[in-house]
Amino acid sequence: MGFKKGFLWGGATAANQLEGGWNEGGRGLANVDLMPHGQDRYVIGTGEKWIDHVDDHYFPSHKAVEFYHHYKEDIALMAEMGFKVFRLSIAWTRIFPKGDEQSPNEEGLKFYEDIFKECHKYHIEPLVTINHFDCPMYLINKFGGWRDRRMIDCYVRLANVLFTRYKSLVRYWLTFNEINMILHFPFVAAGLRFKDGENKTQAMINCAHHELVASALVTKLAHEINPQNQIGCMLAAGTYYPETCKPEDYWKAICDNRESYMFIDVQSRGYYPPYALKWIESHQATVPFVEGDKELLQENTVDFISFSYYSSRVSSATPDSSLQTESNIFASVINPYLKSSDWGWQIDPLGLRITMNELYDRYQKPLFIVENGLGAKDIVEEDGIIQDDYRIDYLREHIQAMKDAVDQDGVDLMGYTTWGCIDLISNGTGEMEKRYGFIYVDRDNMGNGTFKRIKKKSFAWYKKVIATNGEYL
Ligand code: BG6
Repeated sequence: MGFKKGFLWGGATAANQLEGGWNEGGRGLANVDLMPHGQDRYVIGTGEKWIDHVDDHYFPSHKAVEFYHHYKEDIALMAEMGFKVFRLSIAWTRIFPKGDEQSPNEEGLKFYEDIFKECHKYHIEPLVTINHFDCPMYLINKFGGWRDRRMIDCYVRLANVLFTRYKSLVRYWLTFNEINMILHFPFVAAGLRFKDGENKTQAMINCAHHELVASALVTKLAHEINPQNQIGCMLAAGTYYPETCKPEDYWKAICDNRESYMFIDVQSRGYYPPYALKWIESHQATVPFVEGDKELLQENTVDFISFSYYSSRVSSATPDSSLQTESNIFASVINPYLKSSDWGWQIDPLGLRITMNELYDRYQKPLFIVENGLGAKDIVEEDGIIQDDYRIDYLREHIQAMKDAVDQDGVDLMGYTTWGCIDLISNGTGEMEKRYGFIYVDRDNMGNGTFKRIKKKSFAWYKKVIATNGEYL
């Protein structure tokens, strides 16, 4: 029993939080380059306000942790831990700096080709997110981001170039990171900036539909270009529990869960479920279908279901705003039975097993946990040691829960990539000091530091977990 042979153990990252080199190699400007550190970040992420150009704000992703210049060293460290898979994303503007060019930027293509070759040198399988929260600013200015259907062609052109160029190097692909994030952080997830007085739900549903159609189109393309390709959708998961057994709370939890599932229902089952269409209608919005969309969605569903899991959430029919968790992207009522991280994210390993069971019951396709982990402050002691036992505890308990889901519930799980296997910039806050990694990077919230890499205590622990295929925890 235990995890299957060939189980994909590894770590996960995203280009804008990892690479740096924002204006190197011919890379163009993207939405993520205009996400500052500090209090403006959240409202910019939600599309309520924006910055048009690089100004005197501090933009942490511009250098991030300089993977752009350190990737060989970083991949060697991942190999030392025994990684079987490395999840990374493509910075769209490295390949198409403006987004609508007809031919790609060779320097960008070569950068990722070198990375994939470096991975294979160590028998590490790349897992590539085609789009992890980045959108060319040129397309945002031209089309208004994913609200416009013309985005689909640009994205499909990008995917076509990737599938063709990396045909022999990449087999596992995710179309959009956390697609349900469109409803929570729309500028980040879809390059969406709201217009005064517009129906926001309609704008977000336009983005969602265009991304869903784009996802189906590239799923089709990926299978045509290489039948070995496996394509996954990606959900920001974490089941909502009802606050009490009051039927109204239970019903609210069902509705909150559906706001996430409706995206995956389309990508995995191939159609908008009736509850989703009713929900959209209740917000005076419609899905902008054009002829052929329904067939396309129906015929091109994903091969596997990937998701991130950090915490469960709680729904209440009568929420008290003073009892909300600190994380504002996914608002939740505080669960009094759970402990919280330094950032107020509640820690619930059994919630992972519950979430896995719900997803597997619902879709009956293999699951892939592509993000999980603890964002915490790490202290480098005088002798250079980082004792991150809290991180080991978090991961041990979550891996145990995932093992229970596999062993006791029969869930089919392909792999597990912990988030930010090397420290990187936080998406939510822009901080560097919210660290998730097994590898520490010497850099602080304001960009000071040497970028030196240091192995944390969890590095040796995870290495042993992988070497024993999860027997040792
Ligand atoms: C997920 C994203 O939402 O959570 C990542 O896919 C992100 O990009 C991660 O970094 C953790 O969130 P945060 O805000 O702690 O970086």
